[in-house]
Amino acid sequence: MKKNLVVGQSGGPTSAINSSLAGVIKAGLESQNIVEVIGVRYGIEGILNENFVSLSKFSDEKMLDLLIQTPSAYLGSCRKKLPDVSENQEMYDKIFDVFEKNNIGYFFYIGGNDSMDTVNKLSLYAKEKNYDIKVIGIPKTIDNDLYKTDHTPGFGSAAKFVANSVKQISHDNNVYDMDSVTIVEIMGRNAGWLAASAVLANDESVSADIICLPEISFDMDKLIGKINEKVKEKRTVVVALSEGVKDCKGKYLCEYVSKTAEQTDIFNHKQMGGAGKCLENYIKDDLGYKVRTVELSSLQRCFSYSGSKDDFESGFKIGYEGVKKALEGVTGVMMAFNRISDEPYEYEITYADVNEVANFEKMVPIDMITDDGFGLNEKFIKYAKPLISGEFIPQTENGIIKTLRV
Ligand code: F6P
Repeated sequence: MKKNLVVGQSGGPTSAINSSLAGVIKAGLESQNIVEVIGVRYGIEGILNENFVSLSKFSDEKMLDLLIQTPSAYLGSCRKKLPDVSENQEMYDKIFDVFEKNNIGYFFYIGGNDSMDTVNKLSLYAKEKNYDIKVIGIPKTIDNDLYKTDHTPGFGSAAKFVANSVKQISHDNNVYDMDSVTIVEIMGRNAGWLAASAVLANDESVSADIICLPEISFDMDKLIGKINEKVKEKRTVVVALSEGVKDCKGKYLCEYVSKTAEQTDIFNHKQMGGAGKCLENYIKDDLGYKVRTVELSSLQRCFSYSGSKDDFESGFKIGYEGVKKALEGVTGVMMAFNRISDEPYEYEITYADVNEVANFEKMVPIDMITDDGFGLNEKFIKYAKPLISGEFIPQTENGIIKTLRV
């Protein structure tokens, strides 16, 4: 019997996340074996509430193009952790009743490591109970911290935004003939991939002078010493600071001052933000330089205006291929990129057992970090360069990007 396809989005959004959604929709609408392509609002919560929307309007290519360039999760997102089956069998029964009632045979979940936990739990439950449903994870996160894939869609565009922002901020920081420090606070929770991308701004005219990653234990005295040394050398200094830097005891820098950092979400993640301001106060107190903090905040994950062409194109392809694999009978996997070569940049789309991805975080390897712990080496640059390549040019009207809302 032919079945319906449902797709949902979960976790923190990215500027390219809807390109993967568009890939899933396109492949779903093309297939003779799928009756209807349906979106679920607000991730798994929308399955429990039966909050569905038809996606048939995207058979119109013009609509699909607008969807691709629309940043953030078009279908809405959630941060919901499914309990273990042993803790709440009823919830699973409810989810699978909804799947059966709506004749759903394919479920695609576009998300990061927490969302892959949902894919894992649902696919295991389906296997155990012999439900005829294929459950597939499509990776996305600006954090780039998923195992078993070369990179994650969303990272390239965010990295490009970070590098370009740092470059232009560095020029701003350099205008006065005085000692000054600009701190750029960059997202990434526990993994420093995005903050590391600041190094891509570097050329003979400007640089991200100091890059602080969560992978390197934070030491305030050492950092203050480094900033002082750099100011003496070149007067105007840019510090690219990951929101997730923490000291040797695991205490986040943002927890030194911020009350919000004590709040956690359902996956026990601390609400980050504020590390830059904290560092700013230390520099002002200890060194007395002019200091400014720029929090790139939501902008780094929703600025699709000048995203990476590769990111948008490969994000679409991985969604499209995911549907192909599900139609071949594959389930319980996360789609992935396997890099074949750096130059020319080539990759293939493959998949990995979602069990090996869910809930794990892939950190920046130490062999990509400079010996002093404050920079990235050629190995990182070689890795990241192709991911930010090419310009994604969106359609605009009177200079403003055109977007869609459900
Ligand atoms: O998961 C990606 C991410 O953007 C992290 O980089 C960031 O720390 C977090 O989400 C912010 O989450 P929220 O949008 O739920 O505050």
